Amino acid sequence: MAIREIVLMGDPVLRAEAEPVTVFDDGLRRLVRDMFETMYHAEGIGLAAPQIGVSTRVVVVDLRRDEGDDVQDHRIALVNPVVTWSSEDTYRQSEGCLSIPELEEVVRRPVSVVVEGQDPDGNDVVVEADDLYGRALQHEIDHVNGILFIDRVTPLKRRLLLKKWRKLLAEEP
Ligand code: NI
Repeated sequence: MAIREIVLMGDPVLRAEAEPVTVFDDGLRRLVRDMFETMYHAEGIGLAAPQIGVSTRVVVVDLRRDEGDDVQDHRIALVNPVVTWSSEDTYRQSEGCLSIPELEEVVRRPVSVVVEGQDPDGNDVVVEADDLYGRALQHEIDHVNGILFIDRVTPLKRRLLLKKWRKLLAEEP
């Protein structure tokens, strides 16, 4: 396993429509292991392959850091994930992103979603996810479609976030 470098907003890979996975081999499973390791190292609760510079439709989520022990169900790797149903009910909650460190903003999303895809062995899976689990999956699935959370806030908030981001980048040594 290996910790990979997380790419930051500004890298075009984060804006690309990622490629579907067609081969479920050891390379894919290695990618998934590296994604989990990279996510844990960065203390995140989700990561998408484009965030380590790999433009394929793979996401991982693990909420245990935030929710305690009980959440075996809330650790998942999904390949070619698609949101096939979302609730009309929405709610607002603050989000961050490992590719936009230090920025956070409130994002409105559906409370519940159904996500379909495959596991890393190629088996079809259907996941029903609510609340933070659903939010994390929606955020990561956005990544494989080239969407970042800043795209889901009001234009004014987006401008402020981008201004803050440019300032943070300018301060880097
Ligand atoms: Ni993110």
